[in-house]
Amino acid sequence: MSQKVTRRQFLNYSLMGVGSFMAAGMLLPMGRFALDPLFKDSSEGSMVTTSVTADEITEEPTKVDFTFEQQDAWYTSEVTDFAWVYREGDEIIALSPVCKHLGCTVTWAADAANPERFFCPCHNGLYEKNGQNVPGTPPLGPLDQFEVGVSDGFITIGQVFENELV
Ligand code: FES
Repeated sequence: MSQKVTRRQFLNYSLMGVGSFMAAGMLLPMGRFALDPLFKDSSEGSMVTTSVTADEITEEPTKVDFTFEQQDAWYTSEVTDFAWVYREGDEIIALSPVCKHLGCTVTWAADAANPERFFCPCHNGLYEKNGQNVPGTPPLGPLDQFEVGVSDGFITIGQVFENELV
């Protein structure tokens, strides 16, 4: 038994074929555009060189600024941040200045009553020098740490991670 394609069926198949081809032509570039950030190289894990030399770092926490490029989907911006960096024996330690209570910025020795601690002015949060939150103050966790290193004599800062000193 032979199967004949009617004129109506032929027209339907042709329209479906052309429609599918056109839809693919529109959807593929849109899909590629939407997924583009996933295919790009990430700069995560790279260290940023600061303008502060390792010789300048003492046992007193010092504010060390650093700038890096931040990729936010399709938008790249230059972000400036800083770390509190100090020396502990042979080791150099870098702490995040972001308060673990509500994210304000902590400052070393800013509270006259606590000259050897980090102080958060938003709700009087306190941290020890190693980032440990002081019990009885609002923060419920220690300050995060940054990866830190030295390159050609200059301090380098990397990714933030949970405090491993406390
Ligand atoms: S945000 Fe730092 S104590 Fe509240």
